Amino acid sequence: MLPFTALAHPNIAFIKYWGNRSDALRLPANGSISMNLDGLETRTTVQFDPLLPADVVKINGRLAGSASRLRVVRMLDELRALASFRHCARVESLNDFPTGTGIASSASAFAALALAASRSAGLYLEQASLSRLARHGSGSACRSIPAGFVEWFAGTADADSYAVSIAPPGHWDLVDCIALISAEHKTTGSTEGHALAATSPLQSARLADAPRRLEFCRRAILERDFALFAGIVEEDSNLMHAVMMTSRPPLFYWQPATLAVMQAVRAARAAGLPVCSTVDAGPNVHVICPAAASQEAVALVENIPGVRQVRLAKVGGPARLVEDPPRPLH
Ligand code: DP6
Repeated sequence: MLPFTALAHPNIAFIKYWGNRSDALRLPANGSISMNLDGLETRTTVQFDPLLPADVVKINGRLAGSASRLRVVRMLDELRALASFRHCARVESLNDFPTGTGIASSASAFAALALAASRSAGLYLEQASLSRLARHGSGSACRSIPAGFVEWFAGTADADSYAVSIAPPGHWDLVDCIALISAEHKTTGSTEGHALAATSPLQSARLADAPRRLEFCRRAILERDFALFAGIVEEDSNLMHAVMMTSRPPLFYWQPATLAVMQAVRAARAAGLPVCSTVDAGPNVHVICPAAASQEAVALVENIPGVRQVRLAKVGGPARLVEDPPRPLH
């Protein structure tokens, strides 16, 4: 069977996914909205081979550890069941952004894996099915399948919980200036974090108000209304972190520099610069602005103590096959 290589971008959520109705199926407690990050990507090659005795999974040139391998093998198992065969596969995945920077790689990783592995299994899944498959590996990965600005519908069951593009990359020239901040301690991974969300008394309030935030964010993107966008994006991030901080046990992802960047961004916006910030399950701050304001945004945050580097990402395209002629894996 031929190898296939796919690439996918990570994404930054403007309305966050935090908490599941089903952890096993990754059915989210609320819908979410994100933008793909151009210039950052995972490339994954998959080849099913009838002669291979076991799945071989390499990530960034090394054999994957048992937990990561298991997540990949689960997706391969799902495809083996769909394609009605039992062949094992070689999987090689490379990130072009260094792991350990705190830029989440599971979204791009499972989106690229879903596409490369399904094609290598001889399956042509349409976008919604591919998004659902990616979701089973990592929830946010379902949003890295479609292009540009993307909404993941919470859905009512496995079948209708997938992501669609709500606007193409060229719709709005937003830039994510990612302020990389070092974490002093290894942070709790998002999978464990989702499982704690319901222990916070604030999660029910966050969920009850989610339809309003989704509506405002969708409208802000479609109308390119940055003032509306900035307010709702920061509010949503703060709500998620309030839930994290009040979970049992509590999760604190912010470092002092995280808050310093958030405050500098708020002050600059009050002074007229179109910028806003959002933070995922780590200390980095994603500073979002129109392209015309990106130089000023970088200058604003790059010298804040604790900021190690600022990486820029424009709006990215969908997960796609790399058209290189197929080469067998060794
Ligand atoms: C804070 O998709 O990484 O980035 O489904 O367990 O892999 P798993 O979790 P993951 O959670 C992402 C959480 C977030 C918010 C978001 O991207 O929506």
